[in-house]
Amino acid sequence: MSTAALAEVVPALACPVCRGEVRLEGASLVCERGHRFDVARQGHVTLLAGRRVFGGDDAAQVAARESFLGRGHYDRLADAVADAVRAARGDGRGLCVDLAGGTGYYLAAVAERTGLTGLVIDASTAALKRAARVHERVAAVGADVWQRLPLRDGAADVVLSVFGPRNVGEIRRVLSPGGVFVVASPTPRHLHELIEPLGMIRVDPDKENRLAAQLSGFGSAGTQDVEYAVTMSRADVRDEVRMGPSARHVDDEALDRRLAELPEALDVTVSVRVRTLT
Ligand SMILES: C[S@@+](CC[C@H](N)C(=O)[O-])C[C@H]1O[C@@H](n2cnc3c(N)ncnc32)[C@H](O)[C@@H]1O
Repeated sequence: MSTAALAEVVPALACPVCRGEVRLEGASLVCERGHRFDVARQGHVTLLAGRRVFGGDDAAQVAARESFLGRGHYDRLADAVADAVRAARGDGRGLCVDLAGGTGYYLAAVAERTGLTGLVIDASTAALKRAARVHERVAAVGADVWQRLPLRDGAADVVLSVFGPRNVGEIRRVLSPGGVFVVASPTPRHLHELIEPLGMIRVDPDKENRLAAQLSGFGSAGTQDVEYAVTMSRADVRDEVRMGPSARHVDDEALDRRLAELPEALDVTVSVRVRTLT
């Protein structure tokens, strides 16, 4: 990240301790009451009121995600997310906040295609280091999305949530009047060819109902189902398992044994619902 990207998002940020405005002072963000948060050498800054209790994805998960996404299997999904944002925010002005945005892969596509400024919020330092340099108009801030977000009321013109946890109350608070919330979530068909053979976590069949209930306070401005097949190598499949929630449930040895039983190239379904909400 350039400091320019951070400087652009500073007016949207709030001190996590006293909720006051912050300003960039050298290599720190400082609020009116003197609470100070150092900008890391890599360009991200953590805005937490107390000690970090949750670290998000670890370095191995993030490395697997970066390597997998770098091979383009989810490019069509990133295009669909960026198109959804562009359709909703045609003027290309304003701030898009990607909650639990990881390495910033989807937000970079949005920034590139729409002209919006981007802010990744994530708990993982390893992810933030990548997100901070993913695009010249994307900044990266460390925070826990289940806590009060270090953002001013109404600061986000778009909130993005791709495969991440959603704190609906906070999303409502930070969305600007007329803002949109774009959510991408896996359908039960997502990666279904891998679930049984690799012992991956299944998408809970009731998830769709719970998600619909969680989002019922928003109006719908459109839904797009993105589904396509990709041919994955064993290395792709390994990264896919290692980058996701199954990583902690399958040990390396068991994964290698199961991978060896798969063909070297496997057709896998990517199936994701992209909702635009107001
Ligand atoms: C499945 S990954 C998705 C990342 C990104 N949206 C993507 O699809 O590439 C989930 C992300 O949520 C982050 N995360 C999980 N719980 C979090 C929390 N409570 N606060 C902030 N980030 C969190 C993880 O560090 C990880 O980067």
